[in-house]
Amino acid sequence: MKMSGSLNHEMIDDAQAKRAQAYADHFGQPGYADPTQMYIDQNYAGYSAENQETWTTLFDQQMTYLREHASKTYLDGAKAINLRRDRIPPLSDINARLLPMTGWQSKAVPGYVPAKAFFACLSRREFPTTIVIRPKESIDYLPEPDIFHDIFGHVPLHADPVFAEFLQTYGLAALECEDDHHTERLARLFWFTVEFGLIREDGELKVYGSGLISSPGESRHALTSPDVDRRPFHLETVCDTSFEIDHYQPILYVLESFEQLRDAMVTYAERVMTGKGKPSSAKRAVPTP
Ligand SMILES: [Fe+2]
Repeated sequence: MKMSGSLNHEMIDDAQAKRAQAYADHFGQPGYADPTQMYIDQNYAGYSAENQETWTTLFDQQMTYLREHASKTYLDGAKAINLRRDRIPPLSDINARLLPMTGWQSKAVPGYVPAKAFFACLSRREFPTTIVIRPKESIDYLPEPDIFHDIFGHVPLHADPVFAEFLQTYGLAALECEDDHHTERLARLFWFTVEFGLIREDGELKVYGSGLISSPGESRHALTSPDVDRRPFHLETVCDTSFEIDHYQPILYVLESFEQLRDAMVTYAERVMTGKGKPSSAKRAVPTP
């Protein structure tokens, strides 16, 4: 998964990371079912002064805009996990705050996590987190996720109990889907909500999807461009909508509330799990934070 000239992979170029990545690459095969084997330490001393500066630059650039244009749930979450501008967050600090709120945890991973492994993590309220950061010269755009995308973009919403339940339920349902058709539909749902979702709050459109939250260019485009078709969220319609990854999204879906998303997901999960003879309520598997 090493891509030279992109992320600062050298800080995870050790035996632990190689072992964890090998496990991730085999996940789902006999003997490879434990998501915790994919987790690594966040080698904090591996961040350079330039890496820290990149974080601060990105934070300042985006947070100024987001204070006006991000969902209140995101902004409240960022405060609740004490997201700071002056340093790349130690995952242990974030997790100490998240645990009593929703039970979610961010777990460092060395690189690509295959779909089934990713779903297994979500089903445990564990978020596989890229810990490396983009280089200064790619500050405006990087196709791969980095810690700015994963922590700044995703994790604040994990502090919200409703979103927290949605995301775990998504993981539980996705883990049960064996056929490609349903897996693809769930990938679309993730894309149009967790990654690129919009929400209406007090009559105003706001961003909450991590791909928008962590992208200066696309967050502005999503809210203001006349070229974007902003449609009301409906789970089945979203699952029927295909997406492309290499340009700004021409179609986005707008939630009325996170309860709408959570309730639609719980209903979908109950159908998937009942159909397979699994427990009828995904909520049963929610651990006590
Ligand atoms: Fe993401």
